[in-house]
Amino acid sequence: MSNKDVLLEVKDLEVSFHTYAGEVKSVRGVNFTVNKGEALAIVGESGCGKSVTAQTLMRLIPTPPGIIKNGEILFNGTTDITKISEKQMEKIRGSEMGMIFQDPMTSLNPTMTIGNQIAEGLIKHQNMSKKAARTRALEMLKMVGINNPESRLAQYPHELSGGMRQRIMIAIALACSPKLLIADEPTTALDVTIQAQIMELMKNLQEKTNAAIILITHDLGVVAEMAQRVIVMYAGEVVEQGNVEDIFYNPQHPYTWGLLRSVPRMDTEHGDELVPIPGTPPDLFAPPVGCPFAARCPYAMEVCLEKDPDHFTISSTQSAACWLLHPDAPKVENPVSAGGVKNV
Ligand SMILES: Nc1ncnc2c1ncn2[C@@H]1O[C@H](COP(=O)(O)OP(=O)(O)O)[C@@H](O)[C@H]1O
Ligand SMILES: [Mg+2]
Repeated sequence: MSNKDVLLEVKDLEVSFHTYAGEVKSVRGVNFTVNKGEALAIVGESGCGKSVTAQTLMRLIPTPPGIIKNGEILFNGTTDITKISEKQMEKIRGSEMGMIFQDPMTSLNPTMTIGNQIAEGLIKHQNMSKKAARTRALEMLKMVGINNPESRLAQYPHELSGGMRQRIMIAIALACSPKLLIADEPTTALDVTIQAQIMELMKNLQEKTNAAIILITHDLGVVAEMAQRVIVMYAGEVVEQGNVEDIFYNPQHPYTWGLLRSVPRMDTEHGDELVPIPGTPPDLFAPPVGCPFAARCPYAMEVCLEKDPDHFTISSTQSAACWLLHPDAPKVENPVSAGGVKNV
């Protein structure tokens, strides 16, 4: 992969929140890259730092209490998101990156018409005339599958259904043709049929516009449908990353095994029993010194409690942070074989 294909490069990112109870270490040394036009999924249980990572990429974490403690976020090769001025960042947000959140009600402006909300960014960041922005807004509403777009332009968010509002969010995020779209659990608040429609829409639009997408989801079915690459996060760290095939058919980290067993999968026809991962993720006020998953890991060894594992390279596309991958570690049978998940 040559450098010109890389859109976003996240290096050693650490993000914390200073609260009355102490420092929450939400993101603890995260590395990954996103290539142009690629769909990357971020998966992991609730509270493991997915949203904070995504918000940091858009510089949307509140500072204070949040702080980017370390790392670089290189966008388009040279721009370091962690260092640029708020003014520059605003420009990037309005033109090169777009974000879709779980709950559109919190990000749509309740006092502004749909039409004005779509047009606002276009006028401000793309120097469009009011008239051109209105035409583009109409075009976007049609593109996201909204009927009677003309009459919708004059409506307010509360007049629309949840699914419709999410379509509006997508329209706003895509109106300026961003190079990167970040979608944080975009369909969690919607009912299942609407979820499928919105995902289908996002997939189509992503292919059409060739935007790269970072999709945060706990739905591994969606990952298999949408993404080419996956990063698995646990306790503020990336514990495994790979192509979608690597993660589904040859996962290496016991946490990934646990995730695959604990959620329904659309790509297996047989009804494997769902096994939740026992226990809970560690407290991010005082993360363990060793592997953060050790306390829940059926394979944990002494070293796992003492030292956070290195990232071991599995192939040119896959790596995982687990001491079982050390050449001297005992061999354990990978419980996830091609196409299916066996119980350990
Ligand atoms: N504004 C905030 N203030 C304090 N702690 C926060 C804040 N936002 C997130 N956190 C903490 O950061 C950790 C990671 O949260 P988050 O990224 O939202 O997890 P995920 O999206 O994976 O469910 C959690 O422990 C959460 O409580
Ligand atoms: Mg989240």
